[in-house]
Amino acid sequence: MITVRRAILDDLPAITEIYNDAVLNTIATFDTQPKSLDEQKAWFSEHGMKYPLMVAEIDGAVTGWASLSRWSGRCAYANTAEISVYVSRIHRRKGIGRQLIREIVAEGQRVGLHTLIARIAGGNEVSIRLHESAGFKHIGILREVGEKFGKLIDVHMMQKIYP
Ligand SMILES: CC(C)(COP(=O)(O)OP(=O)(O)OC[C@H]1O[C@@H](n2cnc3c(N)ncnc32)[C@H](O)[C@@H]1OP(=O)(O)O)[C@@H](O)C(=O)NCCC(=O)NCCS
Repeated sequence: MITVRRAILDDLPAITEIYNDAVLNTIATFDTQPKSLDEQKAWFSEHGMKYPLMVAEIDGAVTGWASLSRWSGRCAYANTAEISVYVSRIHRRKGIGRQLIREIVAEGQRVGLHTLIARIAGGNEVSIRLHESAGFKHIGILREVGEKFGKLIDVHMMQKIYP
């Protein structure tokens, strides 16, 4: 059974391993260098009650994570967050991504966020579909803003506004 809960600091090595695999092998993130645990601790500390970080577990092992990160430090943006969702390569296509996105979107509403933004690399159709299924709408495309693995990459902007 998949359970989704708030992340704790002890989850950070597993979260980092999942993220760094995506850094090295996918265009899902525009990071190109793996994150150190210290860098990840700083990122972890930017999350909490208002900007949730959640993990999915199967049999006590972390298999994926999702976050709502503050979109900008400027005060007027406080109720806008950017969503991220990553599932461990060996656990994909088991419904974990869908459950993570559903629960973190619900959590964002509970904590009083107003809107969520997703930046999705062109070609990442699975992620685009996943966000559509969670109620995100297409708001535009930034053309050729990333370059990874020798290719220019578009970014699809998607947004969900809570009712
Ligand atoms: C995108 C990602 C989070 C999806 O997680 P997941 O646990 O594999 O997704 P799920 O099993 O919940 O599947 C969600 C939907 O996508 C579909 N899907 C998943 N992987 C697919 C694939 N490789 N090809 C086609 N469809 C796929 C599923 O069939 C499901 O659709 P359905 O509910 O209509 O049947 C995961 O693939 C991942 O971590 N990718 C790398 C990181 C990434 O791209 N993150 C998003 C950054 S914006």
